[in-house]
Amino acid sequence: MEIEDVRDDIEKVLLTKEQIQRKIKDTARRVDEDYGGKDLVLVGVLKGAVNVMTALMNYMHTTCPIGFMSLSSYGEGFESSGQVKVRSDLNVDVEGKDVLIVEDIVDSGNTLHWLMGYLSNEKKARSVNVFPLLSKPSHRQWDIYVKYPGYELEDEFVIGFGLDYKECYRNLDAIAVLKPSVYSQERM
Ligand code: PRP
Repeated sequence: MEIEDVRDDIEKVLLTKEQIQRKIKDTARRVDEDYGGKDLVLVGVLKGAVNVMTALMNYMHTTCPIGFMSLSSYGEGFESSGQVKVRSDLNVDVEGKDVLIVEDIVDSGNTLHWLMGYLSNEKKARSVNVFPLLSKPSHRQWDIYVKYPGYELEDEFVIGFGLDYKECYRNLDAIAVLKPSVYSQERM
């Protein structure tokens, strides 16, 4: 889905399809270089990371296993609840492997802080690094080392490229801010 498909709902576009794809392509090149000869596993955090994961693996020139976990700390609201819920556990073996967590956004950092500890301590990964496409530094509650930084955002609620409002707009190919009027409408 493109911006034109939801033009009436959009206040402003923050990142175009081209900007997003360029960042992911550059990151794929770095990942190919950094993990050559290593036991890389990509781990995506559902649901938001699906778009980034798909683009990243398609741009990579090396192959590796992928896995997903389903986590949530937001529900349908705007604020992080602070508690990470495991909806579905990891579906790939990462013991002794070099894990790259793929995320759509790091906001408070609760999700990544918890997941990095979980993969290291419980799942015995050899190393754990992260590629979040987006970051809201002003919200950060944990000091997280981001090896592959994406784009930094101001304190705005954004949708698109995996990010949702009430489960919609995840399939938009850009990142945008919704009009306030959208929030007051009843959605299916
Ligand atoms: C979002 C996003 C990250 C997390 C980041 O997931 O995909 O996983 O929040 O926020 P944090 O840094 O404050 O922890 P969400 O809980 O909205 O689930 P979703 O990906 O299924 O939409």
